[in-house]
Amino acid sequence: MKKVSLSIVAALLAAVMTLSMTVFAAEPAAVKTVQEGSLNIATNAEFPPYEYKEGDGFAGIDIEIAGAIAEQLGLELVVNDVEFGSIIGGVQSGKYDIGIAGMTKTEERLQSVNFSETYATAVQVIIVKEDSEIQSVDDLEGHKIGVQQDTTGDIYCCDDFGDDMVTEYRNGAEAVQALIAGKVDCVVIDNEPAKSYVAAAQGLKILDTEYVTEEYAICIAKENEDLLAAINGVIAQLQESGALQEIVDKYITAEEAE
Ligand code: ARG
Repeated sequence: MKKVSLSIVAALLAAVMTLSMTVFAAEPAAVKTVQEGSLNIATNAEFPPYEYKEGDGFAGIDIEIAGAIAEQLGLELVVNDVEFGSIIGGVQSGKYDIGIAGMTKTEERLQSVNFSETYATAVQVIIVKEDSEIQSVDDLEGHKIGVQQDTTGDIYCCDDFGDDMVTEYRNGAEAVQALIAGKVDCVVIDNEPAKSYVAAAQGLKILDTEYVTEEYAICIAKENEDLLAAINGVIAQLQESGALQEIVDKYITAEEAE
């Protein structure tokens, strides 16, 4: 008899807990967004596997992370595909809620916007033709370098090798086309997009030498501290639950990541 009543109590408790958790989860966090009920993200969908166009829509790690954030906050995800260089200004001026675009957190960008906790580590790598004489970062001096405009690869290369040696392209794919056409001697870009561009082309390779290591984070207007806190909360949750890793694993296989 005693046993039965205990299990009834336990079942009731479990039911109450489930109910209260459901109620809690359904309650959207009170964050202010530029368009009520929506999370407007700015991205540059030319950066596989983080963001790229697929059919009429968008796919990639950042798109899924943004989707998970929107869902957790009870908002509808709206993707704005813009030039990479206009993301920060658009977030700063309140046109978009967040920028999520494989964006590296840098001191300079922190002057204009806030960044979330980082969610990925990246490396600037060098793509060359298979028979290139460039073998490491030390050989870059005096060579023509292609980059995606306004990216950290662009900024670092201009600083280290001079603006004259650097040609800016609208996106990584165009920079890689210029390399294939012999207009530049190499392309400096983030490692994961580099892998996907090289896999899609022939006669190119990624040098086994790392240029700069960096961290990706989401940018948010400085005034919107509530949104920053909410997003950091969701990132922590996605990390703890393993959901973030699942998203990454969907797009990057462990073997490729080496
Ligand atoms: N990580 C580099 C940066 O922050 C490149 C990012 C480019 N992203 C893109 N979606 N095109 O500057």
